[in-house]
Amino acid sequence: MSSNPPDDIDLQSMMVSQHIRAVISDFEPDFLPFYRAIRAYSGGSPERLYNLHQGIRYIVSAGIPGAFVECGVWKGGTMMMVASTLVALGATDRKLYLYDTYEGHPKPDEKLDVDLHGHRAVDDWFPQWMEVSEDAVRDNMARTGYPMENVVLVKGRVEDTLPQHAPDTVALLRLDVDWHSPCRHALEHLFPRLSPDGLLILDDYGHYQGFRTAVDEYLESARSPMLLNRIDYACRVGVKTGRTASSSLRTPLTFQCPPALSARGDETGEDREPLERAATAPFWGDLLQEIEHLRGDLAAREEQHSAERTAAENLRAETARLKDALMAAEQALTAAEQRSVRDQEMQKQLRLEMTRMHMELSAVYESLSWRMTAPLRRLKNRLSGHSN
Ligand SMILES: C[S@@+](CC[C@H](N)C(=O)[O-])C[C@H]1O[C@@H](n2cnc3c(N)ncnc32)[C@H](O)[C@@H]1O
Repeated sequence: MSSNPPDDIDLQSMMVSQHIRAVISDFEPDFLPFYRAIRAYSGGSPERLYNLHQGIRYIVSAGIPGAFVECGVWKGGTMMMVASTLVALGATDRKLYLYDTYEGHPKPDEKLDVDLHGHRAVDDWFPQWMEVSEDAVRDNMARTGYPMENVVLVKGRVEDTLPQHAPDTVALLRLDVDWHSPCRHALEHLFPRLSPDGLLILDDYGHYQGFRTAVDEYLESARSPMLLNRIDYACRVGVKTGRTASSSLRTPLTFQCPPALSARGDETGEDREPLERAATAPFWGDLLQEIEHLRGDLAAREEQHSAERTAAENLRAETARLKDALMAAEQALTAAEQRSVRDQEMQKQLRLEMTRMHMELSAVYESLSWRMTAPLRRLKNRLSGHSN
């Protein structure tokens, strides 16, 4: 017997499903308290927060110099992860730079800022989108116990605040500004300050096409080769090498699949199908809505079922009552019938008795009449004898 899985099992789909089932159960237990403490303040996925936490540990243990910088902080959740991890590592001498408008997203570009599904950001945008005040973010950061004199909030569009308000050296640069323009501008001014072996984290690389283009264009122009690793569908991380690319980073690669390799391959579409199905499966939000809808439906049905059950119980009680009444009526009828038979017997006997009494009475009458009429007759006879 072969110890290999059968040929018709799609291991790629199985891996996707294992990934979904694992959720965060593979994370080291000592990461979880950090995650739980800040998760309500960040829009980043668990994988992104885990990546950031590990990145901070790497930077501190490797002694990479520089500040921790984030462009696009919203409520401050990701920088709270930075601060709380640094507190736990006893490395609170680092400067933390938090760049944001603190007034929400500026208007996205109509053409460039399009998501991976082709949806234009401008169609959802409104002026206060993701607005969180500077004070609120400062309060959130203070909750981590990080010394606030080392926390620098830079308010305004990064296009206006950089490079004037920037640290000289950066150990970790995290870009989460969503749109093309601030991403490109931040890279222009902050990437050159990133220490060799420092980390570049690109939150929106897979999600917003404009953001990706800005990164690709910048790294190409800077001739900085980066191994951008995929953290989840949107986020990428790379370690700055400090090297210069010997050739263009964007040289397109072409792949000719040798016929022997494509026997079950892409040309049939067969291998692609399960993963494409997974990709077009309803989004979580839709599923949650569907669950809510089903819950409502279930509650309505339960209510209806309970009303029907009460009605059925009432009918059952009514039936039992009627059955009892019917049984009592039947018993009364039987008793009445029995009484009636007895009454008929009695009537017969009485009738016999009455006949007998009638006869007796007649006899009595008769004898009485004889007796009463005898003197009369005798008198009559005497009278007639006298008259003769
Ligand atoms: C997706 S949110 C950041 C999420 C946050 N890092 C987290 O993990 O929860 C994007 C932020 O970028 C900010 N932003 C967008 N464009 C900006 C710009 N040009 N300059 C400064 N901040 C900008 C927005 O105000 C918003 O707070």
